[in-house]
Amino acid sequence: MLQKIETLLQEAKSISFSSPEEVESYRIRLLGKKGILGDLFEQFKQVPTEEKRAAGQSLNTLKQAVSETIENARAKFETQNTDVKEFDDLFRPTGFEQGHRHPIWQVRDEIIDIFSRIGFIVAEGPEIEDDWHNFSALNFPPDHPARDMQDTFFVEGDIALRTHTSSVQIRTMEKQKPPIRAIFPGRVYRNEAISARAHCFFHQVEGLYIDKNVSFADLRQTLLYFAKEMFGSETKIRLRPSYFPFTEPSAEMDIECSLCGGKGCPFCKHTGWVEILGCGMVDPAVLENCNIDSTIYSGFAFGMGVERQANLKYGVKDLRLFSENDRRFLSQF
Ligand code: DAH
Repeated sequence: MLQKIETLLQEAKSISFSSPEEVESYRIRLLGKKGILGDLFEQFKQVPTEEKRAAGQSLNTLKQAVSETIENARAKFETQNTDVKEFDDLFRPTGFEQGHRHPIWQVRDEIIDIFSRIGFIVAEGPEIEDDWHNFSALNFPPDHPARDMQDTFFVEGDIALRTHTSSVQIRTMEKQKPPIRAIFPGRVYRNEAISARAHCFFHQVEGLYIDKNVSFADLRQTLLYFAKEMFGSETKIRLRPSYFPFTEPSAEMDIECSLCGGKGCPFCKHTGWVEILGCGMVDPAVLENCNIDSTIYSGFAFGMGVERQANLKYGVKDLRLFSENDRRFLSQF
């Protein structure tokens, strides 16, 4: 018996394994229910008393050596395993969060998409603008309140941060002869106290269509198409008479309140309608300012706030959320 224990002890010290399965079968062979060690402990009962002490000690030594061999081998395979998981491909992207476009940019792209489908091209203009493009050419009288320091951020002299993207209308008409069918997305600035409903900068998309025989009916159908694409095919619109210096006649367009379905609720101030944009037929004086013959050409223009569309689409009540870069807000879009 002592001889057998000695052989097994040598084996436990020198054995090596090439897989976890080999370790497991070694364990079963030695320590399993019907394993060799069990047998040896059985035989131990028959060992004569004088030999019991020596036999018992070597049995225990063997048991311990076998257990250690198994444990070490298991530990080795476990670390090898995790090594493989972590380092098999060092360039594999793991745990990166994917970013996405800002909600304002998503809505802006959606607006652009809708108008591109009916032939509008996209153009842009500068954010720092002179008086001519931002006001004078657009027919703003010299004493118009928008020209006041209170409403406009002046940079130097009559140079200011543009207060609307209507300035890009003028730049486009100065450069290009009709027909013109374009939209102008961009950021605009107003000298306003920041609150849930107003901000000192926001985004607009301006639209312009100039050709022969363009009528108010064309304006209405174009904007009806936009409203249905943007807010759903059942969307109803209404045009209310309004005033802008650069359009005549001018209107504001409402859509039926999507929250209450037109019944009236706090969101639509119990009118059943919410305003989404300003529009009108381009004033002949504006065409003439850009050297376009107003006896031959006519056209319509419209301008909308991107934040406003996003508010209506997603029910965001506080404008400030769009510029605070709080990821808890942004990650919802
Ligand atoms: N520029 C106007 C604003 O910022 C919006 C606007 C109204 C643009 C009517 C237009 C228009 O082109 O026809 O409030």
